[in-house]
Order: sequence, then C-alpha cells, then structure tokens
Amino acid sequence: MPKNVAVLNCSQLVTLAGAARPRVGAEMRDPGIIENGAMLIREGRIERIGTREEVEPLVVPNCEVIDAQRRIVLPGFVDAHTHPVFGGSRADEFALRAAGATYQEIAAAGGGIRSTVRQTRAASEDELVQTGKRYARWFLRSGTTTIEAKSGYGLTVEDELKMLRAMRRLEAETSLEYVPTFLGAHAFPDEFQVRRDEYVKLIVQEMLPQVAAANLAEYCDAFFEQGYFNEAQTMRIMTAAQSHGLKLRLHADQLSLAGGAQLAARLGAVTADHLEQTNAGGIAALKAANVQPVLLPASVMMIGARKYPNARAMIDAGLAVVLATDFNPGTSPMPSMLLALTLASTQMKMTPAEALTAATINAAYSLGRGHEIGSLEVGKRANFVVHDCDDWRELAYFAGIEHPVAVFSRGRLVAQRDNNI
Ligand code: NIG
Ligand code: FE
Repeated sequence: MPKNVAVLNCSQLVTLAGAARPRVGAEMRDPGIIENGAMLIREGRIERIGTREEVEPLVVPNCEVIDAQRRIVLPGFVDAHTHPVFGGSRADEFALRAAGATYQEIAAAGGGIRSTVRQTRAASEDELVQTGKRYARWFLRSGTTTIEAKSGYGLTVEDELKMLRAMRRLEAETSLEYVPTFLGAHAFPDEFQVRRDEYVKLIVQEMLPQVAAANLAEYCDAFFEQGYFNEAQTMRIMTAAQSHGLKLRLHADQLSLAGGAQLAARLGAVTADHLEQTNAGGIAALKAANVQPVLLPASVMMIGARKYPNARAMIDAGLAVVLATDFNPGTSPMPSMLLALTLASTQMKMTPAEALTAATINAAYSLGRGHEIGSLEVGKRANFVVHDCDDWRELAYFAGIEHPVAVFSRGRLVAQRDNNI
C-alpha cells in the first residue's frame, strides 16, 4: 500500500463529521458536506480533509492520486445487523410467500430459521467460507466496508463455533470488516423442540463459555419473540453472556409486541433491533437506558409485511437511530445499504440525511467503533466510497442502482465497478 494517497476532485465530500458520539435529533440532519472536497491519506488513515484549495497544495510529490472525476465521496456504510454466514438458500420459501403463505406459517411448519439450520449444519467450515466470500463481495460492491455478523444457524456447540470460525476467516481473507455476534438463541433446534430449557442450559453452560474462551464474539444477541425465546430464557442467556464480557444486542418486537424494547433497556443492551411493533412506552424505555434502535426496513419489505418501525417517533425522542440490512436467507436476502436508505425515506419518512447518518456514524457507534469508522475525519480509517451521482441524495433516490464505482478500505481499493477513476 502506498503510504500517501490523495483523493482529489470530489464534487461533494460527505463527511458525517461531528461530535465524538452518536448523532441525535437535528444532528442527524447534517451530513457535513464539503463542496469541491479533497482528502489526504497516510498509512490508511485520513490526514487532511477539506476543500480543494485547502488540500491540493499539500499533496507531496510521490503521492498516489485518486481522481474522483467530480463524483461524490462518502464513508463506507456500516451495516450493524447481518446474518451473512449460512448454508443453502430459501428461494423455495420466497416462492411460497409469493403464493400467499406468511413467514410465521412457514416457520411453524418447520421451515424458516430451522430450514437454514439444517442446511448450515450440512455445510463444512470451508463451504461456509466460500459462500460467505460471495456475500462479502456483494456487501463491498454496494459500498459497505464493515458489517456486524451473527451466528445462529448452527445451534449445536460445534456448529455455532464453526460459523464463528468461518467469520473469523472471512475477516482475514476478505477486505470486509466483520464484527462477530453470538446468536445461539436464534431458534430452538429440531432436537430441542420439546425440551426448550435444556437448550437454554446448553447455551449457558457450553456455548457461551467456549465462544468467550476462544474470543470468537464481541456481542451476544437473542431472538425475543413469541414461539422463540421467552423473557426468562432471554434474561438467563443475556446475563450469562454479560458475565463472560460480551456486550448485548437484542432482536426485539419484530413480529409481536411483548416488551422487547423494555427488556433490552433492562438488560443494558447496546442496541434493540427491529422494533416494528414498538410503541411509545418502548421508545421511552430505550431513551431512558440509552439503547440505540437498529431499524431493518428490508426485513419488512421482503416478508411482505406492512408495518415499519416508527422511526420518526424514535428520532423525535432523541434516540441515536441506526439503519441496517438484516441480510439473511429468510426475512431479508438483501445486502444493499443503498436500498435500505431508499426504504428508510419512502417507508419510514426519515430524511435522506437522517438515513445516511443512521447507516454510517450512528451504526459505527453501535458497534463500539465510532472513533475509527463511520465518518470522514482526521485520524479515522480511510474507508470511503466513490459514488457515481451528482448529488448524494441520489444514492437513495435513483433506487436499485449500483452507485459505487470504487470502494476503499484503509486507503486501499477493495472493489471497483469499472476502470473509470
Ligand atoms: O432478523 N428474527 C430473527 N432472525 C432473522 C430472520 C432469520 C431467518 O429467517 O433466517 C431476522 O429477521
Ligand atoms: Fe436479524
């Protein structure tokens, strides 16, 4: 990697610069645009950022120059909720839903998460790495440079460890950054359907200690939902996870309202994710406990549901909202943060600036990496994307388009659409 890189000729540099904490309220509406911007990078970090007039005179002679050709430059997206390692696909269920079946009906008939569990158990670690690399390319090509990545399709000690090891290899062997989350409490596997507390015991006594000992996860998550993990089971797993030093995220209030937001607040979780059904009481609880909501509109769209989370009420309450794809083979086979931005504005009435803030800097803070990634500021990692747009709002407005022409992580080119830059 050349030591010095200059990024010149950006029509707009969308920095997301601001205070060293997640953005709330009106702060979410300021994308920090520098017109005619430029950036200097040294050893993979941003050394200078400003207008062309400020930065160009500082370019040193043997510096590599990236000419953005009057395109716009943004931070890499940070996707703070994904399930990117799994065997097989569920295109068959997609077709069943198109024919009128619901996600819940398919799950109750033994499909859904448990179908992917069977396919993931049948896959070797090498196979999971191989298919995972394909999904890593999809993320990078759509301008995402960091993802949070959940296990949860193994549901045995060995298969959960296999998934987490596959993630560790993907982190080493691809240019995508993975933040691993242990989600052993994703569903009750077939063999524990009638002995559910035994499965909870397996998570607490076997899985968590081994995951923690091998340092394979930073976070622990659970699917708190009717028919999945109840309050007592979720509490038991999450408090055990905390005692092993894991931080918490929680799938909450996705399909039904059962106080998931309040539970996340009581547990001191970093995030509460989904929140489609969350009401004013839940929003107040998140605010009081400083929990970040992670909203996943593609998982609503892809199962053909109608009810999106109440993003407006959350932003108006002062919550540091995060936007993510929920990429997974069931509810959201959709890895594009660009499309998530479109859905945020059209379905949840988030302004383009709020959605972008939620997809970058707020997401970075929710992963404990707000000081490193999520905005273009001096000292941060040079994770940035050149998008082929005239105005940054076109990212969401011209929908279904692959806007990124070049994606950089730590100042290094990691994905490219053509040789045009
Ligand atoms: O986030 N809600 C639970 N987990 C996933 C769905 C996983 C699947 O269907 O395979 C979600 O939507
Ligand atoms: Fe999820």
